[in-house]
Amino acid sequence: MNEQLPGRPTSHSRVTLSRIMTAVDVNLYGTVHGGVLMKFVDDVAGAAAARHSGGTAVTAAIDEIVFLEPVRVGDLVHAYAQVNWAGTSSMEVGVKLAAERWDVATEPLTVATAYLVFVAVDVAGHPRGVPPVQPESGDDQRRFREALIRREHRLARRTAIQKARTELTER
Ligand SMILES: CC(C)(COP(=O)(O)OP(=O)(O)OC[C@H]1O[C@@H](n2cnc3c(N)ncnc32)[C@H](O)[C@@H]1OP(=O)(O)O)[C@@H](O)C(=O)NCCC(=O)NCCS
Repeated sequence: MNEQLPGRPTSHSRVTLSRIMTAVDVNLYGTVHGGVLMKFVDDVAGAAAARHSGGTAVTAAIDEIVFLEPVRVGDLVHAYAQVNWAGTSSMEVGVKLAAERWDVATEPLTVATAYLVFVAVDVAGHPRGVPPVQPESGDDQRRFREALIRREHRLARRTAIQKARTELTER
């Protein structure tokens, strides 16, 4: 599907979105709701996937999302995303959220990290080919390798679950 597509460097897909968290974003505890941050993660990851694939891409799965620190109203949150790895039509996007506290002048604090799988689709919603990723820096190489590990684990888990279900129905 993508044999003839030339590779794209990691920097091609890199996207940053920033926004200030407001009172409508809070949960019952008064900090920013995880779902608000998840939408922010999905938005920035989608932009990176669209850049890499040169068109529409849909969220197929969220492999992992980790919330490291609470985000507060007034914080300026930056969302950084890049495509770490690409298969035939799927891409792994890595996202980091970093918050600048509104009341303390410190370095931005990493508040969440996430890994998502996007699939590039055509106008009919069918998977289409994507260019391979060309890692540039040492960090890009590491992310590329780690994306492969996550993919292998995802596929192995799916196979194991399918096997267990088959065994259960055959009893
Ligand atoms: C994602 C979607 C396009 C995949 O379509 P499909 O016909 O099942 O695709 P295929 O089985 O041919 O797989 C295509 C690729 O998607 C990957 N994929 C499919 N389902 C996946 C999943 N749950 N997790 C990770 N990757 C997945 C496959 O590994 C394959 O990757 P590759 O081409 O790089 O090898 C389809 O399931 C879909 O439209 N889902 C809804 C997406 C959506 O609405 N998202 C929310 C709004 S954006």
